[in-house]
Amino acid sequence: MKRWWKEAVVYQIYTKSFYDTNGDGIGDIRGIIEKLDYIQALGVTVIYLNPIYRSPDVDNGYDISDFRDINERYGTLEDFKELLAEVHRRGMRLIMDMVVNHTSDEHPWFQESRKSKDNPYRNYYYWRPGKNGKEPNNWGNYFYEGRGSAWEYDETTGEYYLHNYSRKMPDLNWGCEAVKEDMCRMMRWWLDMGVDGFRMDAVNRLVKPEGLPDSPNPPAPPVGIHGYVVDRTMCANRPGIHELLHEINEKVFSRYDIMVVGETGNVDAALAIDYVQEERREIDMVFHFEIAKNPTPGNALTFKDAQKRWYHVIEQHGWTTQYLSNHDTPRQVSQFGNDREYRYESATMLAALMHTHPGTVFIYQGEEIGMTNVDFPSIEYYNERYTVGKYYTMVESGVDPKTALDSLKGMSRDNDRTPMQWSGAENGRFTTGTPWMHVNPNYPEINVEREETLEKSVLRFYRRLTALRRENPVMVYGSYRQLLEEDAELIVYEREYEGVCWLIICNYYSNEREFPQSVAERLKAGQARLLLGNYDVTDGGERIRPYEARIYDILL
Ligand code: NOJ
Repeated sequence: MKRWWKEAVVYQIYTKSFYDTNGDGIGDIRGIIEKLDYIQALGVTVIYLNPIYRSPDVDNGYDISDFRDINERYGTLEDFKELLAEVHRRGMRLIMDMVVNHTSDEHPWFQESRKSKDNPYRNYYYWRPGKNGKEPNNWGNYFYEGRGSAWEYDETTGEYYLHNYSRKMPDLNWGCEAVKEDMCRMMRWWLDMGVDGFRMDAVNRLVKPEGLPDSPNPPAPPVGIHGYVVDRTMCANRPGIHELLHEINEKVFSRYDIMVVGETGNVDAALAIDYVQEERREIDMVFHFEIAKNPTPGNALTFKDAQKRWYHVIEQHGWTTQYLSNHDTPRQVSQFGNDREYRYESATMLAALMHTHPGTVFIYQGEEIGMTNVDFPSIEYYNERYTVGKYYTMVESGVDPKTALDSLKGMSRDNDRTPMQWSGAENGRFTTGTPWMHVNPNYPEINVEREETLEKSVLRFYRRLTALRRENPVMVYGSYRQLLEEDAELIVYEREYEGVCWLIICNYYSNEREFPQSVAERLKAGQARLLLGNYDVTDGGERIRPYEARIYDILL
């Protein structure tokens, strides 16, 4: 079925690192307003904002202390309303990150909850007595914070509370009816204001396992030194989660024309169908981790296999997302491409892959100019809690500090959080002040202003891709069929819709090759019209160069 959110090109903004207009070194809402023309010119139809609610900011806004107000570092609610109006005026839409698995420990609910065992808000969170003088179970927190437990002892009542992430982010108890009601009311409040949907944080973790049992999975050394088990499967996809999401859909989502994308770690295509199948009425699509967090980057076979399985979700009346990076991942050109000799070629090839595979496309800020990973010299430069927590846990368990840092750098979430590089001026003109986080030192070479002038411009390639998507429904609604399925280097596939057939050929590697016979014949027959490519194709085009991407219209 046709839906606006299937056709969308979404641009993800990490406000803190996007554009600072008041010189305090932190991006802000007015900065987004100033850059709306840039975003629109990119061909974006939906903006997705990481959390901008009031927050002590221990996890860059995923720790919310007031769901109905804006972080004062980013601006005011009035600024936000102006942004929303400006986005709508341009014919775009805006979705917000909705963090409902936990709150900040500074949220008034939690402040109440910790006061006494019979406080009316006690049941909003998971409070448990200790077991044999220790925590209620062996769960470790995902950030490797402190000694590693997912439980924090609170002296006021002599009990522990559960926090799967930071101790400053207690987990909400969705088994409590009042939590459900308060959260649904809050979500409707944003939607009534005109927001066009949500990205639901950790949405498959809202239901915890009955009885909160120990995790049976032993920790892999060298982490887990204190015996706590970081096991992200414990709270994922538990019985009751689908009933809960269906209920939220009935009470909230179904009442508006919105899009809802769930962040779901530990969900493969087979599990996903139960979340996104239209008839089930839960959520519209998920961010799965089967490609962007793939442990074997550069492996075209893994990529192809995952795409095939996720296309099957679409065939069963579901939908999916196409993204290679976000604020929790490294930069895609560094992880999947080659950010040195072939930065332009590989950044554009990866973009071609995302935009021509079936699913809603998500661009993460800076990706459209080919921003790369950063190589900071010491742990003090790093900010995000997972990298920092894991580093100290490793060092404490005896790992040499340099080895620990080197092992974490490549995957650190800070790679994608360095400030946006707008120009070659100091600090990439992200701010006129001191940036809250070091700017990637390659900003004189990689920045928006320069991209506008280059012949080989990643930015312009993105604009051409989004324009193609706007004009050609085959890119959204077309069927998907892979060719050369066993080829580990070339990714070749056809999309077909209402008599239109496209053939897409991408080289996932840095070597040059002849086309396999079958593809060469197809092209030679003179029936193919090249719509877009990241190299000039002057001769017969029978050789495919490093990270080359071509999109052909095949005349049927
Ligand atoms: C997933 C978010 O994407 C990540 O940035 C955050 O740290 C956790 N959820 C906790 O909210």
